[in-house]
This record gives sequence, structure tokens and C-alpha cells, in this order.
Amino acid sequence: MSKKGIILSGGTGTRLFPLTKAVSKQLLPVYDKPMIYYPLSILMKAGISEVLIISTPDDMPKFKKLLGDGTRLGMEITYTIQENPSGIGEAFILAEDFIGKDPVALILGDNIFHGSSMDKLLIDPQLDGPGATVFAIEVDAPEKYGVVHKDSSGKVIKLLEKPKNPPTNLAVTGLYFYDNKVVDIAKTLRPSARGEYEITDINNVYLERGELSVSVFEKGVTWFDAGGFDALYKAATFVKDEQNSTGNMIGAIELVAYQNGWISKQDLDDMCIHYHNSGYGGKIACSLL
Ligand code: TTP
Repeated sequence: MSKKGIILSGGTGTRLFPLTKAVSKQLLPVYDKPMIYYPLSILMKAGISEVLIISTPDDMPKFKKLLGDGTRLGMEITYTIQENPSGIGEAFILAEDFIGKDPVALILGDNIFHGSSMDKLLIDPQLDGPGATVFAIEVDAPEKYGVVHKDSSGKVIKLLEKPKNPPTNLAVTGLYFYDNKVVDIAKTLRPSARGEYEITDINNVYLERGELSVSVFEKGVTWFDAGGFDALYKAATFVKDEQNSTGNMIGAIELVAYQNGWISKQDLDDMCIHYHNSGYGGKIACSLL
């Protein structure tokens, strides 16, 4: 049985207007790759080879053109449309058939993660076990995110969605691992005050049942919610600088597929030749040295 993951790649992208009037946010460039490569590479690093991409009716053909059925990466990629941006929590209802009886990971299509300690967390077998795991990180403006609320002993007592007065600086990032109960929990959701099916409500159900693990990223992990101008720009600069200084690609899905043993060296070499003119192929080849 292969592991399953969802990339949520719809939404309206109003924080990036007019950039996203005609082009999906998750297809915009982050330095030398389309944004969706980064969350896809994270799922791949977690060993997930069966991926469902959820997007809008308008944008879906472009994602299919970019990623196809995943064969060239040794993966299985399928697609489901979200008619309206009704909230992140709706993903599990749309993905019910895809999930079947299995556990599932969800990653937001505009989230970029990087760090060697991150890679180790992604292969923790606990992620496929019972309950749910979310990842939090210290940020300067937590009020824009789901925020971790702790009691005086440090125990997590609630997750708060975009609170006006955040009790901590710990934001919940857009990478979540759930057992199969997530589908039934998602079906019980009611729209929030802002009219969305909230992922935070799902996470709070797990928390109330004593089945939520909140893992806090160490300092070495970098996270961007690349949904605003400055973050998108900073993410691109980060990728460029990091790749240039280390010689290793970030978010290069072809490279991760090879490192996972999902494609052969010959397949990778063929792709490097295909992407020779832009320099992308050469950079992948250099990452192997
Ligand atoms: P957001 O950035 O919260 O929403 P958005 O993409 O519509 O952008 P904006 O706030 O600028 O209008 O969404 C986070 C991620 O989840 C992003 O990748 C889009 C995706 N998403 C969906 O696919 N469907 C949805 O219903 C929502 C709310 C988000």
C-alpha cells in the first residue's frame, strides 16, 4: 500500500491580486520552479507517492499539464475540483474516495518548508499511526494563522483560528497528518463565522480526544506561507541563495523521485537533458555530485 497525500491548490489568492487574476497562485514561480513543486516535494520526502491535487475548475487543466499522472516521477497523481473556496477542511470530503480506509497527509499548495531537521520529521513512523500531527513554528504575526494556545504547564489546550490577541507566537503551518477518522470529522464541520470549513476545527476535535500531537519546528526549519507579495519574494530569494550556497536544489521533484528510488538514473538523466536550456537540468545534475 502506498502512502497518500493531498495538495490543496485552489483558493482565490486575493492577497496576490493582480498576480493571481489570471494565473493560479500555486503555479507562480518561486525562483526556478512553480510553487506547487515545493509542497509536492515535501509529500514525496515523507514517502508519499499517491497524491491528489485539489484545485479550481479554471486552474485544473494547467496543473494537469504541469504534472500529468505522475508516471514520470514514479508516482500516481490524480485531480479533484473544488467548485468554491469553501475552506481547507472541505478537502477531506472532496477526497473521501481517494482516502478510502487509509491515513492521509494534507499540505497547502502555497506552503514552502525547508531544513534538514524537517526531513527527519517527515519519516517519523508515528505520522502514519493513530490520531493527528500538526507542525507549529514561531512567527512574528501569529494572528494571520491558526495559533497554539497553551496552559501554564505548557500543555496545548486549544488551537485558535486567526485570533485578534494571539496567546503565543506559535503558528500552525500548512502540513498535517491524519488517521482515517479525519473524513468523518470533516463531515461534521459547520461553516465558521467567516463562512469556511476550518481545518482548525478538525484539529480541535483531535485535541479534545487527546489524539493531537503538536510538533514544534526547531530553529533550523524555514517556513513560508507564500501567499503575499513579500513572502513570495522572500521565498524566491531564500531558494536562490540556499541553492547557490549549498549546491543542492530545494523542491526539485525529479531529484526527490530519484532519491526515493521511484525513477532510474536514466530517467533522471533524460529529464536533465530535457531541462538543459533553462539550467534547471544542470542544477539537478550538480545536486548529485
Ligand atoms: P489561503 O491562502 O488562506 O486562501 P487563498 O489562496 O484563497 O488566498 P487569499 O487569502 O489571498 O485570498 O489558502 C491556503 C491554501 O489553501 C492555498 O494553497 C489555497 C488553498 N485553499 C483551497 O484550495 N481551497 C479553499 O477553500 C481555501 C480556503 C484555500
